[in-house]
Amino acid sequence: MGHNSIEVRKIAGALGAEVTGVDLSQPLDDDTYAAVRGAFVEHGVIFFRDQVLTPETHKRLSRCFGPFGETPFVKTMPGHPEIIAVIKEASDVKTHNFGGGWHSDFSFLERPPLGSLLYARDVPPYGGDTLWASMYLAYEELSDGLKQSLEGLKAVHSGRRSYGTQGLFASGGGVKAMTVVPSEAGDAEILHPVVRTHPESGRKALYINGVYTIRFEGWTEAESKPLLDYLQAHATRPEFTCRFRWSKGALAMWDNRCTQHNAINDYDGQRREMHRTTIEGERPV
Ligand SMILES: [Fe+2]
Repeated sequence: MGHNSIEVRKIAGALGAEVTGVDLSQPLDDDTYAAVRGAFVEHGVIFFRDQVLTPETHKRLSRCFGPFGETPFVKTMPGHPEIIAVIKEASDVKTHNFGGGWHSDFSFLERPPLGSLLYARDVPPYGGDTLWASMYLAYEELSDGLKQSLEGLKAVHSGRRSYGTQGLFASGGGVKAMTVVPSEAGDAEILHPVVRTHPESGRKALYINGVYTIRFEGWTEAESKPLLDYLQAHATRPEFTCRFRWSKGALAMWDNRCTQHNAINDYDGQRREMHRTTIEGERPV
């Protein structure tokens, strides 16, 4: 399928676009790849509907955009160590959902993923939508004074609240249908700049998130909390977000370097199954 048939339509003012005219189960020719990559960088998150992907074709598609990223702590699909099956069973009620809470995937890694590809295999008839927020807008809409204060500042990121020895999964609070193995590695800390520059767009983005950012470098957690809370609330203002209603066969591909996302947990009693791959990223600068 040539790129002439590709159409890209924004779904919100801030970010997000739906792409039609591409069959992702087929290898992408150079023009199609360039059009999809361009839409990905321009819109932060892009959506495709009615795709029929196997784990193999999902991985082939992902691999076009870069090598696979690490998949720490979460047990991957049997035979497919590059795929995380994100599952909530109908019987998993009043529990945490994987991907709930605003975050950027695995930002506690030294080289967090460039992006993720999430494919819907089983979706509830209502609920289970996902939200994304633009960290470009979050940065751009700060005052010049606060931008200056954040320039050069670093923040500590850690997976400890989720994957650490005292974290959510270690205390049995995690999703039942998935196997997550918390460990001391989950308590590790890494420093990233609070404002990062996107290597492809050249734009500045706010790079903190509600799940993995612990404190500012050289500040205590208590000192950091008010400003982190402010920045996080600001970053997820409704006008900086988009919301995607999943359908079976839909695929979302998001840029983890300039967005946060939040999986809404509002479908207790119904099953949802998604397959995720991640693309390796660079150390944020
Ligand atoms: Fe996520």
